This record gives sequence, structure tokens and C-alpha cells, in this order.
Amino acid sequence: MIASPDSAHLRTALALGRQALGTTWPNPTVGCVIVAADGRVVGRGVTGIGGRPHAEMQALAEAGERAAGGTAYVTLEPCAHDGATPSCALLLAEAALARVVIGTHDPDPRTNGSGAALLTAAGVTVTSGLHEDEAKRLHAGHLRRVESGRPHVTLKLAASLDGRIATSTGASQWLTGQVARRHGHLLRARHDAILVGAGTAVRDDPELTCRLPGLGDRSPVRIVMIGAETALPVGRLLSTLGRSPVWLLATPERRLDTADLQATGMEVIDVAADSSGRPSLEQALGTLGARGVTSVLVEGGQTVATALLRDRLVDTLVWYSTDAIVGSDGLAAVGGLARTALSETRDFRTFRARRLGPDHVRFLERAA
Ligand SMILES: NC(=O)c1ccc[n+]([C@@H]2O[C@H](COP(=O)([O-])OP(=O)(O)OC[C@H]3O[C@@H](n4cnc5c(N)ncnc54)[C@H](OP(=O)(O)O)[C@@H]3O)[C@@H](O)[C@H]2O)c1
Repeated sequence: MIASPDSAHLRTALALGRQALGTTWPNPTVGCVIVAADGRVVGRGVTGIGGRPHAEMQALAEAGERAAGGTAYVTLEPCAHDGATPSCALLLAEAALARVVIGTHDPDPRTNGSGAALLTAAGVTVTSGLHEDEAKRLHAGHLRRVESGRPHVTLKLAASLDGRIATSTGASQWLTGQVARRHGHLLRARHDAILVGAGTAVRDDPELTCRLPGLGDRSPVRIVMIGAETALPVGRLLSTLGRSPVWLLATPERRLDTADLQATGMEVIDVAADSSGRPSLEQALGTLGARGVTSVLVEGGQTVATALLRDRLVDTLVWYSTDAIVGSDGLAAVGGLARTALSETRDFRTFRARRLGPDHVRFLERAA
């Protein structure tokens, strides 16, 4: 089946946005394509690093006068608030576009329908709803942060056929093959931050950087949840500080030698304790949201994954499965959740799945 021009151009805008995910926080990662009245693509834009310039502004700059009478395809409702520069909705209206096709509505109170309203009032035809599910996935971090004050949380785990993420000695590197691991590195590049529990940081001594050729500069902020007792991570996180920041989230009660740690270049961030005396995950995520982080990739381990699932703080699950059997003395992917009825167990549904060499990956989102 041949895609309609609207569908094809909006998909291009979505693909542009996806390429820049992880680089634009605290702003959303917007893609924009401008098509002239004669059907030719005359402008493309994506949000710049750190959130500026906006995608529409870049696409309009490339299109110039050829935008007049044409159509703009934007993955997110154009902003309506003037700041250092005029709002994108105003710029699109001033460029005399005939139509604007929007992927999804922006609930940011500074826009929240007023971008579309400004365009309509200026005589521009506004269409929305096309590929809205994909647009919502692209903007999941921004939408979650605006609506809940916290980042979108993606939990990534690699498990054996019998659902184990490590052997009885804690060995987990590497359960999956090289293709799946590269895929995991791409996920890192597309998130604002990576988070692990202190158990994983100490046991595995991971770098948590993106090591794909050409994407070496796309390592997100690395975050460790420091508990009540576990040793502090040093090793590779410390030796790779030049690649991207490391934030240690800990309760003030843990009495970390903050000045000494900050002197190493790692940042210690206070988070209030939960009922078990560990930093509260909800508070931790709120703190990250307040710092502008829109998406977090949680890479385990079992204790942190279980706590996030128990508190229903996981928005997307990325589940790698590999053809290995570890045995029940290995570490289960998820610990006890005290669920008794099967009706309590259907938290997620698969929306994408693919093979990665000898392994498989499934993307699941929270069931409504
Ligand atoms: N295959 C995979 O996908 C994968 C991925 C990652 C890790 N792993 C494996 O998993 C194992 C590590 O898992 P793990 O369960 O031992 O450790 P973990 O989940 O990485 O870390 C747990 C520790 O984090 C601290 N923590 C701080 N705040 C917390 C909070 N709010 N909730 C829960 N914990 C909090 C606690 O330290 P305190 O106890 O000091 O309070 C807790 O013991 C390793 O063997 C690793 O190789 C496998």
C-alpha cells in the first residue's frame, strides 16, 4: 500500500525527532518537515542540542519563501509562548503556510491548545491525530514530565529463557549477544539519563556509556541509587567521568562524605528516604524531573527493578530474551510482588518486537 503524502511526511518528521532523542532535554525532541505547495520538501528541522533552536524555526529558515502556501509537518503542537525568540506557532503563521499537520497535542500549560488556536485564527488549516501513537511515543518523556513532574521511565532487562538476569554468583555479562548489546547502547544514546541500583554499580562496575561508533558523544547522565549499606561505586564510573556526569542519589541519613565525593567530580543529590530507609524512587524521579530530565533508562538490577514495578513507576519495558537457561538458583528478573490474583499481573502489553541476532527484544507499554 502506498502511504499518503501526509503520512509519509509526518513519518519523516518523527524519524528526524527520534534521531535527536536524548540531546534536547529539558525541551521535547521535535521533528519538522516543510513541503512547498508543489509537493517538494523544502525544509527540515529538529530541536537543537539542549533544546534550542526549535525544529520549526530551523525548517522555516531552510524553506525561506518557499514555505508560503505549503504544509508544515510537526511532531508536537508548535509552542505558543514567546521567549528569547517568537513562538513557533507565530513563525509558522507569519510564513503564510496553508496547512500545519500536528502529531500530538502539547499539554505544556504555556501551549496546551493555544499553538493550534493561534494558527487557526491566522487562517492556517490545522490537522492532528495522524500517527498520534508514534508521536506520543516520541514525546513520551516531555508528556510525562509535563503531566507528572517526573521523567518517562523505561526499564531494560536482559533475561534467560527461565527469566533470570544473573547466575547464582551474580554474573550477567553477557547474557545477550553482540547485536542485542549494541541495540542497548542505542537505547542509551536516546535517553537523557541511565539509572542503576548500587548493587549493579558495584557488582558489574559498568561504564554505562554509549560506545557505538560515531555516537560516543551521546552518553547520557549516569545515575546510581545509593542505598543504606552498599559500598559506593568507584571504578569505571569514576574513570569515565569525562564522558558524561555521574549523579549519586542518596538519603541525607546515609551521611556520605559529600565534599570528598564532589571533589571527584561526581555529584551527590539528596533524596528523602522511603519507609525502608532507602532513597524514595518517587522522590528521586521528581528530583530528576525538576532538573529537566525527561527520560530515564533503568538498567537494573533486580532490587531496583522490582521496587519500580511495585510502585508502578515503569512506563515502558524493554525485555531482551536470550536462549539460555540459568536455573532457579540464578537471580530472577523481578523479585516478589505479593500478587495473588492473575488479574493483577497484566501491567504491560507488547507494542513492538524484533529479533536481534540470536536474541529477541520486546517493547511493552503500560496497559491502559
Ligand atoms: N541481565 C540484566 O539485565 C541485568 C541488569 C542489571 C543488573 N543485573 C545483575 O543484577 C545484579 C544486581 O542486582 P541487585 O538486585 O543486587 O542490585 P540493584 O538493584 O542494582 O541495586 C540494589 C541496591 O540499590 C540500593 N537502592 C537505593 N535506593 C533504592 C531503592 N529505592 N529501592 C531499591 N534499592 C535501592 C540498595 O542498596 P542498600 O542495600 O545498600 O540499601 C539496594 O540493595 C547483578 O548480579 C547484576 O549483574 C542484570
